[in-house]
Amino acid sequence: MELFTCPLCAEPLSCTDRILSCPANHCFDLAREGYVNLLPSHHRGSLAPGDTSEMISARSRFLNSGHYEQLISALRSVLSGMQGPLVDLGCGEGYFTSLIAEVIPNVYGVDISRPAIKAASKRSKSINLAVASTARLPLTDKTFELATIIMAPSTNDLPRILKDGGRFIRVTPGPDHLTELKEVLYIGSRAHARASTDLPDFKLLKTERVTGSTELDADRIADLIAMTPMQFRTSRERQINAGQLGAQSFTLDFWIDVFEKNIEASVELPAPS
Ligand SMILES: C[S@@+](CC[C@H](N)C(=O)[O-])C[C@H]1O[C@@H](n2cnc3c(N)ncnc32)[C@H](O)[C@@H]1O
Ligand SMILES: [Zn+2]
Repeated sequence: MELFTCPLCAEPLSCTDRILSCPANHCFDLAREGYVNLLPSHHRGSLAPGDTSEMISARSRFLNSGHYEQLISALRSVLSGMQGPLVDLGCGEGYFTSLIAEVIPNVYGVDISRPAIKAASKRSKSINLAVASTARLPLTDKTFELATIIMAPSTNDLPRILKDGGRFIRVTPGPDHLTELKEVLYIGSRAHARASTDLPDFKLLKTERVTGSTELDADRIADLIAMTPMQFRTSRERQINAGQLGAQSFTLDFWIDVFEKNIEASVELPAPS
């Protein structure tokens, strides 16, 4: 937990008797499950930001069924030989984070959703977990060798926490990802737009496209819809149609991009609270 910082004054936190405190004596209790909440109420955009507990349960059921096995083995080989500390930003319920923690020591996970971090703490005891926003990361400057963002929102605070020469691994959906489902859910479904690889402060080292297919039954299709914002962007009728698709093959398509932080990257400190 020693790489977390105080969300109120940005000073380092130290942990005694399950309480994290900074030199100015701002205190944050470790939850029973072992995570810490570093998202002060005035930094929250809403009462319960991020994914809801229903979305988190659906995500866990879906990911636990092993449909993203190909992505996992591609991620494992990208990570092989790399060193921590690593932080997984927007880590959700910790499925990928816990697999990463099996091959990389000293892993941190951050998500704005409390139900997500609670579920991640139950999944693995070896990850340092905090409820926090990636817009204002409560993490020490220039200490992380690696950061991952797996199908989660990006952040401008990344250059600050990475060491010079540190690496950022980003997983985003490829153009054909779940195209069969999108055709049923949306009128005039469009391919996922490619996220830019031209990032200020980073050099693109490597890009890999992981493609494949998987069989999904009605329950997993329902989970897939419930775990993403797809459910809010389509009608109930179209969701029912998707649920009646029956077992069929779905296209999987992901980009894995590996970036290296430029030595001369300009580091902007997050705005004070
Ligand atoms: C599509 S899920 C991906 C979760 C996980 N990386 C995975 O692949 O299983 C996106 C996650 O980003 C989180 N999230 C959204 N906005 C965030 C923010 N500003 N700061 C931290 N997490 C955020 C959500 O709560 C959600 O858990
Ligand atoms: Zn403080």
